Amino acid sequence: MTHLIAPSVLSCDFANIQRDVEMINNSTADWFHIDVMDGVFVPNISFGFPVIKAINKHAKKTLDVHLMIVNPDQYVEEFAKSGADVLTVHYEACPHLHRTIQLIHSFGMKAGVALNPHTNVSVLENIIADLDMVLIMSVNPGFGGQKFIENAVEKVKQTKELIAKSGSKAIIEVDGGVNLETGKRLIDAGANVLVAGSFVFNSENPTETIKKLKEM
Ligand code: DX5
Ligand code: ZN
Repeated sequence: MTHLIAPSVLSCDFANIQRDVEMINNSTADWFHIDVMDGVFVPNISFGFPVIKAINKHAKKTLDVHLMIVNPDQYVEEFAKSGADVLTVHYEACPHLHRTIQLIHSFGMKAGVALNPHTNVSVLENIIADLDMVLIMSVNPGFGGQKFIENAVEKVKQTKELIAKSGSKAIIEVDGGVNLETGKRLIDAGANVLVAGSFVFNSENPTETIKKLKEM
């Protein structure tokens, strides 16, 4: 598959959210990446259901929702109702990960698991067959605009091997510090979906930047 681009709306202009959603609709982007932060799992608070519902009203592409929250099980149904197509939880926030994944699937969503930069890929060995996606964090979650952490490239390769070995159909997404240079190396390593926030929205022409990421 050719790689997918998921602009992160965390870096959009929230006073002009409809405009930025339409920009993504009309671009070569594939997904909307939506970051939910609770101020507990990560040291930042982003937004919740009203904002996701507002985005969903206008978005014409897959909603890829990345939960940086504790106790995600409690809210899985509400995220489904808000329009999430792919729901990703953090390995580090889920003591009963298998149950959480089943719950996400029971609401008809695809299920992803995110790994913080310090978490080994090998922890997914016993859950990989049930996953639709693995999200490799290439920054510490919580903020846009951070510097890319290099070990993500190696972790993408390790994830690809784990997927091949297990026969899983999971795809690999990478999130944090993605630009044309890091993005290229991640794709070469086996990444299927690239999230990009500040690189897209801080550029002069976000539509063109998305196109460049897509065509690289
Ligand atoms: C970080 C978020 C990312 C963030 C990426 O916690 O999960 O999705 O928006 O932003 P950039 O692309 O600016 O690193
Ligand atoms: Zn994210």
